[in-house]
Amino acid sequence: MRIVQFTDTHLIPTKNGKLYGIDTYASLRLAFTKAMDLAQRPDAVFVTGDLTEDGARETYLRFKEIFEDSKLPVFVTPGNHDSIEVMKEVFAEGNIKVAFHAVFGEWVGIFLNSQAAGKAHGVITGDDMSAMEKVLSSAKGKSAVISFHHPPGSSCPAAGCKLKNADELAEFLRPYPEVKLILAGHLHMDVDQEYGNLRVLTSPSTFAQCVHPHVEQNANLEDFWASHRLDHSRQGFRIVDFFSSGIFSTELCWF
Ligand SMILES: [Fe+2]
Ligand SMILES: [Fe+2]
Repeated sequence: MRIVQFTDTHLIPTKNGKLYGIDTYASLRLAFTKAMDLAQRPDAVFVTGDLTEDGARETYLRFKEIFEDSKLPVFVTPGNHDSIEVMKEVFAEGNIKVAFHAVFGEWVGIFLNSQAAGKAHGVITGDDMSAMEKVLSSAKGKSAVISFHHPPGSSCPAAGCKLKNADELAEFLRPYPEVKLILAGHLHMDVDQEYGNLRVLTSPSTFAQCVHPHVEQNANLEDFWASHRLDHSRQGFRIVDFFSSGIFSTELCWF
């Protein structure tokens, strides 16, 4: 089973409009075309948040336009720029799904909402952990991948780039060795790191990448743009192939 992960697509409502110089609609459309042209086509798409810049209904309708003809299942999770209520309304029918979990053969996918109301940083709620517990205990013998916006273990020192309760999540996941992978976004950069017994991968953004400050740098971390720089030079997405016995492989596709 192959999935492609798109993240931080940041669509805007205006046709041909640009966000920091990038037509994010055209860029996501190009990413999807490239994914569908792969020698092995994906079986599903995971989108790990910041689908839109503004959380507006008309922007989600533009997002829908890109995927609806393909009939591929597209699993979306909200980022700090999104509105979960509007996502649920616009994606109530069709191939784009705001689901909590889905089974893919020997794998189960879990899709979390890591939004913290009105904040850039993320948090995984106790309710979501309880719901995960139920899914994981009913999916015995399967391996699991968890998908959400804010990655645990961000090396960026800015508070807005963090998953606030990353340690609590690690503690929660410790008794579940079947959870092999977390797929996330938010950082607008590709990361591949160990997190307890599992691996955290983030995907490049289909909009623009972000250069984060180093811990030792004397940056104004309260002001996002004083401490971060946008890199428009390339866009990308991630491909993940899932095999039996919890094995997976991954590669990036830049364009
Ligand atoms: Fe983003
Ligand atoms: Fe974000």
